[in-house]
Amino acid sequence: MSRRVLVFDSGFGGFSVVREIVAQLPDVEIVYIADDAAFPFGDWEEEALRTHIVDLLGDFIARYRPDAVVIACNTASTLVLADLRARHAISFVGTVPAIKMAAERTKSGLFSVLATPVTVRRDYTFDLIAQFAPAAKVTLVGAVHLAALAEDRLAGRPVDMDALRAEIAPCFAERDGARTDIVVLACTHYPFLADLMAEVAPWPVAFLNPAGAIARQLGVVLGAHGDDGCGGSAVGPIAEFVFTSGRQAPPDISGILDRALAMSTR
Ligand code: DGL
Repeated sequence: MSRRVLVFDSGFGGFSVVREIVAQLPDVEIVYIADDAAFPFGDWEEEALRTHIVDLLGDFIARYRPDAVVIACNTASTLVLADLRARHAISFVGTVPAIKMAAERTKSGLFSVLATPVTVRRDYTFDLIAQFAPAAKVTLVGAVHLAALAEDRLAGRPVDMDALRAEIAPCFAERDGARTDIVVLACTHYPFLADLMAEVAPWPVAFLNPAGAIARQLGVVLGAHGDDGCGGSAVGPIAEFVFTSGRQAPPDISGILDRALAMSTR
C-alpha cells in the first residue's frame, strides 16, 4: 500500500520536485494539481493569491484525503504554508528559497536568489536572509518571464534565449573583486532551464536546485504516517492529474513528464 501525496504548483514546475520524489520514494502515489487557471502565480496580488490557494487546497484535501501535501512552488509556499498548517492536521512540505544552503556553500560571499517577482518581495524571504545569511551579499532578482519559458521548454517549444539571458543578467554581481558564485533557483520551474542558463551566464556559477532536499523531507514526514491507497488514471509515476482550468491533461502529457524526468536539472 502506498501513501498518497498531493503535489501542487501553478503549472509543470512542480515536476522538478516530482522527479526527486519518484527517485527517492517510488511507492508514493502522486496526485498532481496544476493550478493552470491561475498561472502565473508571480503576477498575483498577495492577499488574493493567499485566499485563492487556501480555499482551493482545502477542497482538494477534503476530496483526496492525502497523507501529505507538497507545495511544489516557492511563490505559494512563502505565502500560505502557515495558514495551511493552522487549518489542516496533515503534513505540508513547502518549497522555499534555499538561502541557508547557499549561505553554507558560497565561497565568494555573494549569491543571488532568482524567483518570481512576488517571492523576492516577501517577508518570508527577507527573514530567511536575516536568519541564515546575515553576512552574505544577497542579490534578489524577480523574473517576469522565466516560468513561462520553462513551460515552453517542457512542452517542447523553443526557448527564447535572448529573453532568458536578459532575465538572469541581474543575478551576476561583482563587488570588491568578488563575484556571485551561486544562483538559488527559487521557483520550481527554473531547474528546467538551468542548463540553458549556464550557456548564457557571463561566468560559471552553481545553480542551486533544492528539489532533492524537498523529497527527503517528504520521506521523513511520510515515515511518521500511516498508509492509504488511491486509484486514478496513471501517467507514468503520477496517479492522477488535475488541471484547475477543468481541461483534460494535454495529449502529450506523457511526453512532457518524460522530458521533465529525463532533463538535467543540475
Ligand atoms: N513554480 C512557481 C514557484 O516555484 C511559480 C511559477 C508562477 O509564477 O506561477 O514559484
